[in-house]
Amino acid sequence: MLRRPRRNRQSAAIREMAAETHLNVQHLIFPMFVLDGTNIRSEIHSLPGIFRFSPDQLLPEIDSCMELGLRNFVVFPAVADGLKDSMATYSYSPDNFYLKLAREIKSRFPECCLISDVAMDPYSSDGHDGLVRNGEIVNDDTLPILAQMSVAQAEAGFDMLGPSDMMDGRIGFIRQALDDHGYTKTGILAYTAKYASAMYGPFRDALDSAPKSGDKKSYQMNPANKKEALIEADLDTSEGADMLMVKPALHYLDVIHLLKENSELPIAAYHVSGECAMLRAACNNGWLDFERAMPETLLSIRRAGADVILTYFAKEFAQRYPRGI
Ligand code: PBG
Repeated sequence: MLRRPRRNRQSAAIREMAAETHLNVQHLIFPMFVLDGTNIRSEIHSLPGIFRFSPDQLLPEIDSCMELGLRNFVVFPAVADGLKDSMATYSYSPDNFYLKLAREIKSRFPECCLISDVAMDPYSSDGHDGLVRNGEIVNDDTLPILAQMSVAQAEAGFDMLGPSDMMDGRIGFIRQALDDHGYTKTGILAYTAKYASAMYGPFRDALDSAPKSGDKKSYQMNPANKKEALIEADLDTSEGADMLMVKPALHYLDVIHLLKENSELPIAAYHVSGECAMLRAACNNGWLDFERAMPETLLSIRRAGADVILTYFAKEFAQRYPRGI
């Protein structure tokens, strides 16, 4: 036998030298949930280990992440029912606690990368990402609302905005509104291929943001489709997106790979709440070993082609692997 692949696996030194994929803390974005109030740190029952923080509790949490070298955050607001309406007006209200918090985070931690969520669902009494009219999620009339929300977020100091709503034309519309208001440096992390997935359950529990009627299939992508992700990627790229995202991650590794092969932009993958919950549940039951399953999972997303990974395990990864894998 001239060729023996096992020679490159025989010691840790050789294995590490021959490793094709690496994952470091700078590739990770930590999604966090915030709610108004003080002294609140409530665990999400369907996502053990992840909390909803009031602003005073979130700041020290961010501080401890920064200490670990984890400095990219996407923050999602849980909004009280009384503040929700059909037009999501609280999303750009001057009283909005999420916008105030963003200002505070960026003044305390100017070197972090703070990413927002742009969609109507946290603020909408209908629980949909777009405007609901006679039971229909209307596209074009949603765009000005998303643009107004985006300008308010840019003004609050977010470094990048994350439109997660899947309306047609929103990247261009938001880019134009940002530029018109002078926010030419604010980036857009486009949720390009976001699928109508069952994997968002714990996230909707955390924000109490499940749709009040119907589902999201008329705007989020059909899990059966792959080529359609290329159409979305073309549109988002031509409309000015700075990064493209695939979501969820594990069930869509082929889509991550496809976009990586076909785009010059950085590709992000969102390892979503349900995917993290499944792994955590199996580990908490003693069926899988978290210490091995977690890094293997994140590495597989990276191997598929993700430059950047959003994962609820970001902090635990940073604690265990300060020098990466
Ligand atoms: C909605 C939004 C969702 C997630 C991020 N933004 C859920 C949805 O589309 O209902 C899910 C993220 C996760 O499950 O971790 N704007």
